[in-house]
Amino acid sequence: MSLYKRLHDIQAAPTTAAERTDTTLNDLRRSIHEELIVELGPILYDKSLKPDDAKRKVNDAVQAALSRRKTPLSVADRNQLIQDLANDILGYGPLEQFLEGDEITDILVNGPNSIYVERNGKLEKTDVKFVDETHLRRIVDKIVGEIGRRIDESTPICDARLPDGSRVNAIIHPLAIGGPFVTIRKFSKERIGIDELIRFETLNATTARFLQACTVGRLNIVVSGGSGTGKTTTLNVMSSFIPSDERIITVEDAKELQLLQEHVLTMEARPANVDGKGEVTIRDLVKNTLRMRPDRIVVGECRSGEALDMLQAMNTGHDGSLTTVHANSPVDTMARLEVLVLMAGFDLPIKAIRDQLAAALDLVVHMTRLRDGSRRITQITEVTGMEGDIISLQDIFSFDYGMGFDEATGRHRGRLKATGTRPRFCEKLNDLGIRLPTNMFDAEDFAGQPALTAGEDPYRGDQPVAMTGGYPEGYEPPPEGYESPAS
Ligand SMILES: Nc1ncnc2c1ncn2[C@@H]1O[C@H](COP(=O)(O)OP(=O)(O)OP(=O)(O)O)[C@@H](O)[C@H]1O
Ligand SMILES: [Mg+2]
Repeated sequence: MSLYKRLHDIQAAPTTAAERTDTTLNDLRRSIHEELIVELGPILYDKSLKPDDAKRKVNDAVQAALSRRKTPLSVADRNQLIQDLANDILGYGPLEQFLEGDEITDILVNGPNSIYVERNGKLEKTDVKFVDETHLRRIVDKIVGEIGRRIDESTPICDARLPDGSRVNAIIHPLAIGGPFVTIRKFSKERIGIDELIRFETLNATTARFLQACTVGRLNIVVSGGSGTGKTTTLNVMSSFIPSDERIITVEDAKELQLLQEHVLTMEARPANVDGKGEVTIRDLVKNTLRMRPDRIVVGECRSGEALDMLQAMNTGHDGSLTTVHANSPVDTMARLEVLVLMAGFDLPIKAIRDQLAAALDLVVHMTRLRDGSRRITQITEVTGMEGDIISLQDIFSFDYGMGFDEATGRHRGRLKATGTRPRFCEKLNDLGIRLPTNMFDAEDFAGQPALTAGEDPYRGDQPVAMTGGYPEGYEPPPEGYESPAS
C-alpha cells in the first residue's frame, strides 16, 4: 500500500495503536515538506539544474531533515517517505504515477480523496488519494506557479500546462465544493502523426490521402466532435500536411499544436490578471493575424466570437484555414458556428451568417468516440452552399456503423466508406494540380443495420422509460479484455 494511501486511511480513522504511531509519519512528512520548500526554494526554480542533480539535492535534504528529527522509522517507511517527498517537491505528488506512459489520457481529481483516470479510452476510479486538502492545494499551487500564474480565493479558476504540454484546469474553494478539482488532459508522449491515426483506425489510407489533398488544396476545414474525441490531435495531423513554404500562424488558448514546419508563428491567449486587466482573447489574436501576412491561420478551437473573424478571414482570401468546433454532428457544427458568430456581439441576421458560413467553409471532418473507447473520424462532409435558407451538406465518406463489433476484441469493425458522392471542390483541387484517383469516391456497400420497429424502440413506444441513469435498454458493453488501439 502506498504511503499516501496509508496516511490517508490513518487520518480518516486513527483507531489502533499501530495506526496512531503511523500518524507521526503524516506530521513528519508535512513538516519536512514545509522546511524543504524554504530551504531549497531557489534550487527548485533553477531550470538550468539537471533533473538528476535536483533529485540528488532533494534526497540529501530529506535525509538530513530526517536525521535532525531522530524519529525512529523502518527502512521501508524511510525510503517511501523520501520517494514521496521527492515526488511532492520535484513532481506532482500522487499524480506523478499517472503521468508516465500513454495509456492514461485524462487525470480527473475530484478533491483529495477521489482520483479517476481514463485508461485506454475507459474511465476508472483509482485508489490513490492525497493526504488531505492542503496536500492537494500545494500540488495545484505548484502546477500553476510553474507557469507564472496564481490561484487563490480571488481567482479560483486557472488554466495551466505541465512542462510536457499536458493541459490542466484547476478550480478551488469557494467555487469547487469538496474540491479542489483538477482536470488534466495528457499529451501523448508518442507523437501522433498520420501513420498512427491510420494504425488506430481513426481513418484509413484513402481518407488520409483525401484529407491531405484537401489541406494542401487550401480548403477551409473544421474538425468537429464532442469533448475529448481527438479533434486537436487530428487538427495537428492535418496541419502537418501544410506545405513547408507557407507562413502558418496558430492561435490557441493554451498551446497544444506542435507543427514541425519551419515557418510557424504560435500565439497564445492570456487571461486577465488579478486586477481583471490585461486579457488578450483568441478573438484579439485572430484579428491580429490578419495584419501578419499569414498564408494559413490555424485556430486551436473556435469557442466564441472569434468564429466571426475566422469566417471573415476565410472569405477574404485567407483560405486554407483550419479550426476545431465542439459539436455533435456536421449539421450541428453549422448550428454551433451560427451561435458562436452571434457571440461576437453583432446583431447579424441568421440568413447573413449562414451565407457567410456556406461561402467560407468547404469541409467538416467529424470525430466520434465509439463505445469501444476508440476515436474515429465518422463523417467527412462537404459544405456545398445554400438551399433556400438552409446550408446544404453532403457526406463524402461516412462511418459504417452497421458492421458491428468484433466479438473477440470488442472493437468496432466499422470503417469510413465512400458514399458515392464526388465532392464539388474536386475541380478546384484539379486546377491546383492535385489529382485524386477517379475511383476514390465510388460508392461502397454499407452493412444494413436492422431498423427497430416502433414497438421495439424503447424511446418511441407508449411505455414510460425509466430515467434513473445507467445504460439504455439494449446496451451491449464491449467484451472483457478489450484493448483500445491507442494503447
Ligand atoms: N485518433 C486517436 N486515437 C487514439 N487516441 C487519440 C486519438 N486522438 C487523440 N487521442 C488521445 O485522446 C486524448 C484527447 O485528444 P484531443 O485533445 O485531441 O481531443 P479533443 O477533442 O481536442 O479534446 P477537447 O474537447 O478536450 O479539446 C489525447 O490524450 C490524445 O492523445
Ligand atoms: Mg481540443
